[in-house]
Amino acid sequence: MTAQASGRLGVGIVGSGFIADFHTRAFRGVRDADVTAVCGRTEERVRRICDLARELRVGDPTAYADVRDMVRDPAVDAVWVTTPNHVRVETVRAIVEEVAAGRASLRGIAIEKPLGRTVAEAEEVLRLVESVGLLHGYLENQVFAPGVTRAHELAWKRGAAASGTPYLARCAEEHSGPHNGWFWQGDKQGGGVLSDMMCHSVEAGRFLLTPPGVSADDWLTPVSVDATIASLKWSRPSYADELARRYGAEVDYRSRPSEDYARATIVYRNGDGDEVVAEGTTSWSYVGAGLRLTFELLGPEYAMSVNSLDTEAKVFLSREIAGRPGEDLVEKQNAEGGLMPVLPDEAGAYGYTEENRHMVTRFLDGAAPAESLADGLQVTRLLMAAYLSAQEGRRVDLADPATAEKLAGFVPDVAQGTWRSGR
Ligand SMILES: NC(=O)c1ccc[n+]([C@@H]2O[C@H](COP(=O)([O-])OP(=O)(O)OC[C@H]3O[C@@H](n4cnc5c(N)ncnc54)[C@H](O)[C@@H]3O)[C@@H](O)[C@H]2O)c1
Repeated sequence: MTAQASGRLGVGIVGSGFIADFHTRAFRGVRDADVTAVCGRTEERVRRICDLARELRVGDPTAYADVRDMVRDPAVDAVWVTTPNHVRVETVRAIVEEVAAGRASLRGIAIEKPLGRTVAEAEEVLRLVESVGLLHGYLENQVFAPGVTRAHELAWKRGAAASGTPYLARCAEEHSGPHNGWFWQGDKQGGGVLSDMMCHSVEAGRFLLTPPGVSADDWLTPVSVDATIASLKWSRPSYADELARRYGAEVDYRSRPSEDYARATIVYRNGDGDEVVAEGTTSWSYVGAGLRLTFELLGPEYAMSVNSLDTEAKVFLSREIAGRPGEDLVEKQNAEGGLMPVLPDEAGAYGYTEENRHMVTRFLDGAAPAESLADGLQVTRLLMAAYLSAQEGRRVDLADPATAEKLAGFVPDVAQGTWRSGR
């Protein structure tokens, strides 16, 4: 039965890895959607996501090996694209070709971050999706995280309304390094931590500085970007060797490192004509309890802050317990002893549940999601400007038309394998 007839959205997930698992868990909090199909390259991983969906009673998905077959399934009304960055464009092209040929009938497509490895790729994804008129959403979970959205709403409603708009956002995402080999390869991923995690911090910064319910593109005009990147930990010889042991010779941080640290300062002009600033800091070189997300928004007489590791639940495990490594307390967990934070509902806390609920509702209503591929493209432009700034050791002027021209064909040195830290 189609979405129109049933009032429910059938979701097909392409990609069956880490984030497909998170999305499947998040669908527990979405009442009017079912995971009807899962597609991936490895049969065992596809089966695992299908089994998880059945176990959580969020659907009874059919397993597919080819995305073209998946989108032809009449039970699939919308696709969540969760394939790795280097196959993003080909995945979207295959879906769009099926729709254009009339073999697939979809309402919408939602695509994981980052939208592309370069501005050219992000533009191509947007162009393809628009060419067949699909509704589209950009899967940036952090702007749906309940702690962030509620504190943002209150800061604007009580703080900004009484004392003026906020002027400084600080967003950070840090952990001890990604879970799969391709993330560490500059060419496949598009860069290092700046591409992988600054995309979150850039979009969270734009979200925080923009009034609730207003599009960041309408409220904020980018003025300049100033950024630094470095390989602080993983190109040290012993850690480079550790990466080669884990992921094989393709991950060679002695000769082809990616940055594991990035900071960017983005200046915007807001809708009131004021200069406002977003600072982003991200690293793969943070060894704390696990993944740490922090957000701050500062205004004339107010401030908000969120820290994902300030959890209400904690467990203490004494030195008498030698725990097996796991991620059962928190994502990217680094220890199994001592006083540890526990996030009981990570899919909820990080924003995946509200994100999926929003996308499903908008697709069912035939309306454009608040977070769209146009936002994903803008984030990619800002990330590429940050790489350019870090590479050339200068502030990049975003109002200069020559910058836009340069960014259109820009591929960061890190993605080309020619970058060295400290140069
Ligand atoms: N929003 C977030 O916080 C977040 C977190 C992690 C990953 N991501 C994004 O999600 C995407 C996937 O990341 P991941 O961590 O799940 O990676 P992963 O390596 O864990 O899983 C990727 C999956 O895609 C499958 N795959 C590869 N090529 C494919 C193809 N051509 N067709 C179908 N399936 C294919 C692989 O077999 C694998 O199962 C990336 O773009 C990443 O940036 C987002």
